[in-house]
Amino acid sequence: MIKKIREYREEAENFAGTSAEEIESFRIRFLGKKGIVNGILQEFKSVSNEEKKELGQEINSLKNAVAEKLEQLKPEKKTNSTRKPEDLSRPAYPFSLGSRHPVNIVRNKIINIFKSIGFSVADGPEIEDDWHNFTALNLPEHHPARDMQDTFFVERDPDILLRTHTSSVQIRYMENNTPPIRILAPGRVFRNEAISSRSHCIFHQIEGLYIDKNVSFADLKQTLQFFTRELFGQSKIRLRPSFFPFTEPSAEVDVYWGLNSETDRRITKGTGWLEIMGCGMVDPAVLENVNVDPDEYSGYAFGMGIERIVMLLYQMGDIRILFENDVRMLEQFRAL
Ligand code: DAH
Repeated sequence: MIKKIREYREEAENFAGTSAEEIESFRIRFLGKKGIVNGILQEFKSVSNEEKKELGQEINSLKNAVAEKLEQLKPEKKTNSTRKPEDLSRPAYPFSLGSRHPVNIVRNKIINIFKSIGFSVADGPEIEDDWHNFTALNLPEHHPARDMQDTFFVERDPDILLRTHTSSVQIRYMENNTPPIRILAPGRVFRNEAISSRSHCIFHQIEGLYIDKNVSFADLKQTLQFFTRELFGQSKIRLRPSFFPFTEPSAEVDVYWGLNSETDRRITKGTGWLEIMGCGMVDPAVLENVNVDPDEYSGYAFGMGIERIVMLLYQMGDIRILFENDVRMLEQFRAL
């Protein structure tokens, strides 16, 4: 038996495996539950007491030889001198990938649709003055949007406020650029409204503006039909006469949604039509305010609320879902 143990020890000492699998099977062969060492210990039980002393020492030295070998072959040991120190700033857990917010997904879709027909993106400040948000847009002194009920004022006299719509970007852009102009202005807007399932005091709009020679209402309608076909898969639209101080004539745009299901009936209030934006021909008074000659140039403008379109496209019943940022909601948009 002693001879056998010595042979095993020699085998262990000469072991020269390098791969992780080889080392692991070496460990199992010797130290595994049914391995060599345990087998010897079984036999050890039945030896006489005199033999036990010497045999015990041999078994220990076999065990030590195996343990020493394993220690030598530990991967850290082998590469210790060349290894770089761990990067302690790395996160302990793998990053889980985020997803885009549905408002951004829809905003990007809308931007891409208009980019494909030559619009570019323009930007303006969220904190505005009275001129850009109201006066230059032909919003009269007594217009309700100027009321404390609707507008968040930052300062009074002169009035500085949180913009109530992205139409202010029209003015900023026309002040600094000459026609032809073809822009889209996405951004955050603010209104002092009670928060409910349908309205929120911070939301997002996209404004469009096109100024050139001989722009007509027909151009506006064609553009809107193209847009609704791309976004909703439906180019059947309806223009309802409406009023906005900065456009004349003005209209509200409805897209035909259909009445195929109970949900369709509910969200279109049984009509099959959905209102998606306001639009119109830019009022000559607005062009004069930014020194564009209304006898030479004309144009159209439109404005839509992004949250409203998100709610329609993804059939959400409550706008507040879009502001809570519950990851269980956001994760549903990972693939989009
Ligand atoms: N600014 C309007 C609003 O916030 C939306 C709007 C309507 C924008 C008609 C326009 C337009 O450019 O022509 O309700």
